[in-house]
Amino acid sequence: MPRIAIIGGSGVYDPSLLSNVREQAVETPYGKVKLKIGEYEGEEIAFLPRHGEKHSVPPHKINYHANMWALYELGVERILATSAVGSLNLDMKPGDFVILDQLMDFTKTRHYTFYDGEDSPHGRKFVAHVDFTEPYCPELRKALMSAAKELGFNYHPTGTYACMEGPRFETRAEIRALKVLGADVVGMTQCPEAVLARELEMCYASVAIVTNYAAGISREKLTHTEVMELMEKKGNELKLLLMGAIKYIPKERRCPCKDALKGATGE
Ligand code: HPA
Repeated sequence: MPRIAIIGGSGVYDPSLLSNVREQAVETPYGKVKLKIGEYEGEEIAFLPRHGEKHSVPPHKINYHANMWALYELGVERILATSAVGSLNLDMKPGDFVILDQLMDFTKTRHYTFYDGEDSPHGRKFVAHVDFTEPYCPELRKALMSAAKELGFNYHPTGTYACMEGPRFETRAEIRALKVLGADVVGMTQCPEAVLARELEMCYASVAIVTNYAAGISREKLTHTEVMELMEKKGNELKLLLMGAIKYIPKERRCPCKDALKGATGE
């Protein structure tokens, strides 16, 4: 039973550092999810490429509910995710890793909760308002930082991520506005993924990798090709960072994530 999962974002489609990899399909109330389970240093790890194995699912079409429910169903307690981002902060350069600590949601068409009251397609027919003051698990963030330090990688210990609807890139005015609001990086996938993890009391942290300067900061036209090229270059380091973090994850959870539903349902 894997207790740790990796969600690979753009450019991270295969679990190459895992051994004895097997495929597994998990039925969920939101649809079926196919993922891989392998081993790393004696620990079972689940691997799920968020956009599919060939980047065939755009950010607004990802079945975030099915993905997160499937991991929960497997017994996963901790999730390490990756995400490609544009940078609004000149200190965060293409190629840098950012261990995200904050999140702002500007998506428009997504479904943001598992708890739809009577309409929930599973047994939890309640409403929940989870605390999301700290959207990322402090224990997992610490593990990622320890690994980044050990590996000598260039990383930023904090960063605020603005999640946009996409799939288009932003306008210059949108990026200017996001900068005023305090965003460091911009991407399209952390919402609702991070909050759905919290709603199932799974720990979640994300390493963003800067693939480009955001619209208007970069003088060049933004292309998905440049995003993929940078991911190709840094993909291996990113995997080393995720795997390197595993040994720093404490066996027992002492973070607040595991009790996210306590007090959230009004009971
Ligand atoms: N904007 C939104 N998402 C992204 C970007 C960007 O500039 N780069 C990589 N993902």
